[in-house]
Amino acid sequence: MAADLSTTFTGVRLRNPFLLSSAPPTESESNILRAFDAGWGGVVTKTIGLHPVVNVLGPKTKFLRADADSAQLSMKKRPGAALHSSWNWELISDKTLDWWLPRLGRIKQAFPQHALVASIMAGSGNDTELRHWQELALACEGQGCDALELNLSCPHMDRPDMGSNVGKDQELVSIVTKVVKEVARIPVWAKLTPSTTDIVVEARGALLGGADAIVSSNTFMSLPLIDAETLDFEVHVDGLVSTGGLGGPAILPLSLAKISQLTQAFPDKSFSGIGGISTFEHALNYFLLGCGTVQVCTAAMLDHAIGPNIIKALNEGLARFIERHGDKGWTRLDDFVGLRRDRVVPQSKIRRADEKEYRGGYEREGYADPATT
Ligand SMILES: Cc1cc2nc3c(=O)[nH]c(=O)nc-3n(C[C@H](O)[C@H](O)[C@H](O)COP(=O)(O)O)c2cc1C
Repeated sequence: MAADLSTTFTGVRLRNPFLLSSAPPTESESNILRAFDAGWGGVVTKTIGLHPVVNVLGPKTKFLRADADSAQLSMKKRPGAALHSSWNWELISDKTLDWWLPRLGRIKQAFPQHALVASIMAGSGNDTELRHWQELALACEGQGCDALELNLSCPHMDRPDMGSNVGKDQELVSIVTKVVKEVARIPVWAKLTPSTTDIVVEARGALLGGADAIVSSNTFMSLPLIDAETLDFEVHVDGLVSTGGLGGPAILPLSLAKISQLTQAFPDKSFSGIGGISTFEHALNYFLLGCGTVQVCTAAMLDHAIGPNIIKALNEGLARFIERHGDKGWTRLDDFVGLRRDRVVPQSKIRRADEKEYRGGYEREGYADPATT
């Protein structure tokens, strides 16, 4: 019998716990239809807003690669280099709400069994902006969307009252979430920024506002590297650059640390994990730390734009994992979500080396060798 990959997350039924995250893979109707055909359990649309969006000139995303036999890190295409990260300074969808609405309706009609989550964003500076959140929420819900994801996390907005600028302020996070919860009948997920001192603080704000789930991480604030020959940033317009967002393999361990903080602080709440996932083994980390779903962006962008091979490997990996652990009585995802959550402890709780054997600082080896220092 085939393994049961399905799960229910914040009341939304999913055929599998794998979603495409809000980003280029979900920026169009054709991409989303292809994604569902390919087997993704759900998608979160590219973030939809009400204000006009004009992106920077030139490429909005580039990929940083590392060499196996040298320390070179560069966006320059070269054979044999392995993916290190994605870097982007793309804004939210430059398509209007009116463009999106009929498409959301058609997608939902074509794939009623797949989860369609609308990512939305508005400002936060005044009551009109807060009403925009409600307008967006109701419009997307009206087209049959299964849930809403609040983008409180884009690290490179061109407005100070949006994105991670909201996500860095516990009170604003709480207010925006509450305003959307006041009108929405479908579940509301809050996507937080990793660029704060303690993400638990903003998560508490979102949960107090009534969020049904916390989503982490968006990309991490970062700069492209400077080319040592040209002295230009590897991405620039007229020699200028602004901070953008880092995604992909480089952020997997960083995002896991955020997730661990979150799931320990709120063990009974729902979490969707994002960051650096391209294999089931990566996703498993998020599940074992307490996430009920995971989302993928960079890996899917590099696999035919919507990740047909990625989702195939994720589904097969989950099926194999469930079958392999059948002797433990595991039959579905829920049986192992959070199983390693409590293995992350303060360093003071980690066993120390035996005092007799411990020669810390006196080892005549490596960087502590007095002959070499
Ligand atoms: C080009 C690009 C555009 C993105 N646009 C959005 C967006 O509109 N809304 C959003 O919430 N996240 C956006 N993201 C963030 C991704 O959804 C995701 O959180 C991040 O890339 C980390 O996942 P990854 O390591 O799988 O790439 C974008 C990421 C990239 C690379």
